[in-house]
Amino acid sequence: MLVHTIAEVREQIKKWKKEGLTVGLVPTMGALHAGHKSLIDKSVEKCDRTVVSVFVNPIQFCPGEDLDKYPRTLDEDNKLCEDSGVDIVFAPSPKEMYGEGHILSNDFLTYVIPPYFYVDKLCGKSRVGHFDGVCTVVNKLFNIVQPDFAFFGQKDAQQLIIIRKMVKDLNIPVEIIPCPIVREDSGLALSSRNKYLSAEEKEYALALSKILFNIKACYDKGVTDVRALTETAYAYLNNRHQLEYLEFRDENNLEEKTTADDNTRVFIAVKIGTVRLIDNISLH
Ligand code: PAJ
Repeated sequence: MLVHTIAEVREQIKKWKKEGLTVGLVPTMGALHAGHKSLIDKSVEKCDRTVVSVFVNPIQFCPGEDLDKYPRTLDEDNKLCEDSGVDIVFAPSPKEMYGEGHILSNDFLTYVIPPYFYVDKLCGKSRVGHFDGVCTVVNKLFNIVQPDFAFFGQKDAQQLIIIRKMVKDLNIPVEIIPCPIVREDSGLALSSRNKYLSAEEKEYALALSKILFNIKACYDKGVTDVRALTETAYAYLNNRHQLEYLEFRDENNLEEKTTADDNTRVFIAVKIGTVRLIDNISLH
């Protein structure tokens, strides 16, 4: 069932709760692919009812980012959800979510601001305010849907860590279920932004997963010095890659590591042409 208003979602949720059914929420920005589908499948399997939200959230885009050209494919998304056994596809307008005139500055909207330590690094460093927008919309979705479980991909590992922190700090009654990264056979992590890549750029994009897999292989052979592991990356990079970061951080609290261990996650962001890609791997 495709639903555009908060009131309709609430009405349906109320009925389900009365019947004692569990509800799973999969928040997305649409342009659904097999990565999103893996989260949806997990929710359909685990929960009595599943809600997928499809909302290109304007407040998590920074000035100059791809808000206007972000792919919007609601018909296809709705079909994929229907075929997967989803009960509600919630696709609100910005006005439905943020109100008349939707003035989206800090001065006019109550924001949920994650701790500075979690956002002053990795993607938060170049995307200032991004995680404020993510936490605010996810918090709103939690309040609208009141899910028992919510499903997030490890593809956006910093986002997942920040959402877990928000849920813990604000005592939100939802269990966050992390889901592994889905990749093409080539190793490339699926992303809605892969659509922006030309065939040639897609070849260059393989460097991200190759770097991460190689670091994991070196770690498995016993290399733990982060400087040595970092140096292995350069063999895969050329002048078509603008490396934004390659960092080793604690899986749970994002503290920096100088010696890798089983709690370490390696994060990478690279710009190829105008397309910014991210990936990560756990050394566990
Ligand atoms: P979006 O980029 O559409 O991603 C929705 C969910 O799908 C996220 O939890 C993301 O980590 C997961 N996902 C994307 N690609 C994946 C892949 N290859 N493997 C596994 N999971 C993958 O992330 C967002 O939207 C937004 O920030 C949102 C949380 C919806 C808030 O607006």
